[in-house]
Amino acid sequence: MDQLTIKAPDDWHVHFRDGDLLAETVAATARCFKRAIAMPNLRPPITKQAQALAYRKRILDAAGEHSDFNPLMTLYLTDETQPEHIKQAASKIIPAAKLYPAGATTNSESAVGSIEKLFPVFEAMAEHGMLLLVHGEVPDPEVDVFDREKEFIDQHLAPIHVSFPNLKIVFEHITTCEAVDFVLQTGDNVAATITPQHLMMNRNDLLAGGIRPHNYCMPVLKRRRHQNRLREVVSSGSPKFFLGSDSAPHEQHAKENACGCAGCYSAWGALELYAEVFEELGAIDKLEGFASIHGPSFYGLSLNRESITLVRDFWTMPKSIALADGRSIVPFYAGQRLRWRVEI
Ligand code: DOR
Ligand code: ZN
Repeated sequence: MDQLTIKAPDDWHVHFRDGDLLAETVAATARCFKRAIAMPNLRPPITKQAQALAYRKRILDAAGEHSDFNPLMTLYLTDETQPEHIKQAASKIIPAAKLYPAGATTNSESAVGSIEKLFPVFEAMAEHGMLLLVHGEVPDPEVDVFDREKEFIDQHLAPIHVSFPNLKIVFEHITTCEAVDFVLQTGDNVAATITPQHLMMNRNDLLAGGIRPHNYCMPVLKRRRHQNRLREVVSSGSPKFFLGSDSAPHEQHAKENACGCAGCYSAWGALELYAEVFEELGAIDKLEGFASIHGPSFYGLSLNRESITLVRDFWTMPKSIALADGRSIVPFYAGQRLRWRVEI
């Protein structure tokens, strides 16, 4: 097959950051995705409706020629979030709120200390149809970093789902067999996103033959058997799993550092990387569901009317992306060859 046309896709998990970086990040996502869920972990974080709307306007201003790009916003939950904030914000353009356990990842210091104290907020979310997006890792230093996702399911996610069966939950960027099993075993109100890096790589790609800071993200890459389970479930075509790239830029110096930042900037090739994986799995016919149908269906939104064509045309991910003032970002998969290109 040399060409593949699918319904236009959406990215249900992206970090655009803010300020002058928006020109880079928004263009990279809007080149092929019609909608994107913009993560709220800015400094300071987006905790209220007014901030989310102002941030959305900055993203739209940066979208330039991509005038039909539709960023969807999220609130960042903190110990101070009240049901009133949810009631005020819940809408078509702020469809979700994000739960980061405090300290679990980038800019999560001011996030949620006590998840149980947020139960009235979850109740308001269920009532107003707002989705709960979850970074599912316990930040407990006593828990091994490779076990933090499984612990989160047992300690928090299962109890939240049992207490609020009507609350729609997206278990973001899942990485383990346990997460796949949890999502498959729960009802229609639980789904998950999966990133390209967790489908393409395992922890050998992070640690064997040298530390690879550009493959470092949170949740960290796991063993091959977990990677294989993620690959298996996306090739099954299950509607509970959909595209969320977690594209997350950090400047080169911040990644190539004695204490390197977590995040893979995959936006330059997000859809193409997934196409690569689905083709390898002999499941290219399942790409459209994963990229363009399961996400909006779970969010209760219409499917995009437009379509997009991928053509077989080898290209190489740049080794570096130049920003203003001599700064740069090393993209995910830098210098490596891809088999599919999005036809513009
Ligand atoms: O690797 C990650 N980077 N994981 C996250 O959860 C956050 C993200 C970021 O914002 O850089
Ligand atoms: Zn993220």
